[in-house]
Amino acid sequence: MIDLHGKTAIVTGGARGIGKAIVLRLAAAGADVAVSDIDLVGAEATAAEVAALGCRSLAIRSDISKWADAEALVEEAMAAWGRLDIFVNNAGITRDALLVRMDEAQWDSVLAVNLKGTFNGVKAACKVMMKQRAGKIINIASVVGVMGNAGQANYAASKAGVIGLTKSAAKELGGRNIQVNAVAPGYIETDMTKDLPPAAKEAFLTLIPLKRSGSAGDVADIVLFLASPLADYVTGQVVHVDGGMVM
Ligand code: NAI
Repeated sequence: MIDLHGKTAIVTGGARGIGKAIVLRLAAAGADVAVSDIDLVGAEATAAEVAALGCRSLAIRSDISKWADAEALVEEAMAAWGRLDIFVNNAGITRDALLVRMDEAQWDSVLAVNLKGTFNGVKAACKVMMKQRAGKIINIASVVGVMGNAGQANYAASKAGVIGLTKSAAKELGGRNIQVNAVAPGYIETDMTKDLPPAAKEAFLTLIPLKRSGSAGDVADIVLFLASPLADYVTGQVVHVDGGMVM
């Protein structure tokens, strides 16, 4: 049984989907959780569910692609709780198009949220965690960052970047007892994937040995493990939660 009582966490993109599932897993284990998102109404709803579990919660509007927002996010949580044990970089977007048709805005927006946003989160969190000489940072990557995907050159590049960032941060921060890991989900049923064409969903399923899509909870379970003392000797890893799609 994982016990996170006395620990505090921040989860970006926590208003819905995988981020929300992560927030609720951490809170169910006893952690106080700050829910951050560009969608403040959604973040407030998730934070209310944290409070209903008996944990302290905050809802903070933050656009993680902006350094000033990332810095303010950590400052607000620190002002409220005085420490930061867990930071989950989950916020992410897609703007799919074939490479020849992908415009600059589609490329820039995905890189800004998924890759620069993760850099902003890691940097803001590690400033505090380095002083504490303890902390866990978990970055949500994707199998697409490992295997590539037609129509998602921007997204694949951003998630491959998240993996390189995770390993570099793990090497820089290990000496301060900060573990930095990535989770690479496969095909997970959320708002992000609900509009995939049926043929694309079928194509994914043929690649999955477990023959089904995953749930947000499947991802949250692994994040909970990586955020817990059970993973104190694990850093710089990319844990695939993909039904065996990539092995
Ligand atoms: P989602 O679209 O359901 O939720 C994403 C959340 O991030 C939303 O609440 C959104 O408001 C928030 N967000 C977007 N831009 C933001 C910004 N600039 N700053 C702060 N928050 C922002 O997506 P889902 O499926 O829950 O994905 C969560 C993470 O998991 C993403 O990083 C995604 O790339 C990754 N992932 C998802 C997979 C899937 O199959 N659903 C597969 C692999 C990775």
